[in-house]
Amino acid sequence: MEKALLPRLSDKVAVVTGAGQGIGRAIALRLAREGANVAIADLNPTTAGQTAIDIRQLGRRATAVTVNVAQVSQIPPMIAQVVNELGHVDILVNNAGVVQIKPLLDVTEEGWNRVVDVNMKGLFFCLQAAAKQMIAQGTGGRIINMSSVSGRGGRADSSHYAASKMAVISITRSAALALAKYGILVNALCPGVVPTTMWDQIDQERAQLFGYAPGTARERLVETVPLKRVADPEEIAATVAFLASPDGSYITGQAINVDGGLEMD
Ligand SMILES: NC(=O)c1ccc[n+]([C@@H]2O[C@H](COP(=O)([O-])OP(=O)(O)OC[C@H]3O[C@@H](n4cnc5c(N)ncnc54)[C@H](O)[C@@H]3O)[C@@H](O)[C@H]2O)c1
Repeated sequence: MEKALLPRLSDKVAVVTGAGQGIGRAIALRLAREGANVAIADLNPTTAGQTAIDIRQLGRRATAVTVNVAQVSQIPPMIAQVVNELGHVDILVNNAGVVQIKPLLDVTEEGWNRVVDVNMKGLFFCLQAAAKQMIAQGTGGRIINMSSVSGRGGRADSSHYAASKMAVISITRSAALALAKYGILVNALCPGVVPTTMWDQIDQERAQLFGYAPGTARERLVETVPLKRVADPEEIAATVAFLASPDGSYITGQAINVDGGLEMD
């Protein structure tokens, strides 16, 4: 008879930013099913609260923390609140992100700042605050940063988004080097096409920009995916759970494509 596997993340505390919906929500629920107690750190208190309720129904502890990661001053208090309510921080999933479809020649300073402040600055300072907490605990940790296949190359219609996601890979490598001596492993994920609210926005903005029929921008991209389908958010969450678990103990400084074969570098 097959032996049941033990939950891989029992007694761990994970902070997942942007976990009110989409990929972040799937990650938070997956980590909870793997045994972790989870803090949902999101701009939207309503969706974050719902994810927390759903996690408690799985028998884990959960707390919803309202935070705008683009406001650096809000980040250390967010980590302090998690420690206060859940005891410690072992895993950070830096998932919160925003996108804008805009041709390179039309990107404004405001649009640039919005995208870069959340995806790059917010991610960096969440990583820094969580790492300080993990170092103080002396128990190591795991940090998983959400990049994108857009961070693997250029994007004519979302150059600021692509730049922010390439920066995530650079931050991941620097942090992996800086934090290895504390037993903190840092990796990035590069998802391909995941059907979430963000993709609804991309589809609408591309439809407007290129004159596509609504709903077809995503189909055009999926045609170029070797597996010929979008990802289930759970498929991204499964890779996060692996990297956060003892199974990922010899992996750091990597950016892993979870994209059905869209990018191969
Ligand atoms: N959907 C995709 O196809 C795809 C592909 C590659 C990478 N990604 C990345 O995955 C991550 C999640 O994307 P998604 O598709 O689930 O997006 P989504 O828009 O569905 O969800 C994003 C979540 O982040 C939260 N958020 C946004 N700004 C925030 C801020 N300033 N502070 C705190 N929370 C904030 C939102 O409230 C929301 O709950 C993003 O970093 C995105 O760039 C998504």
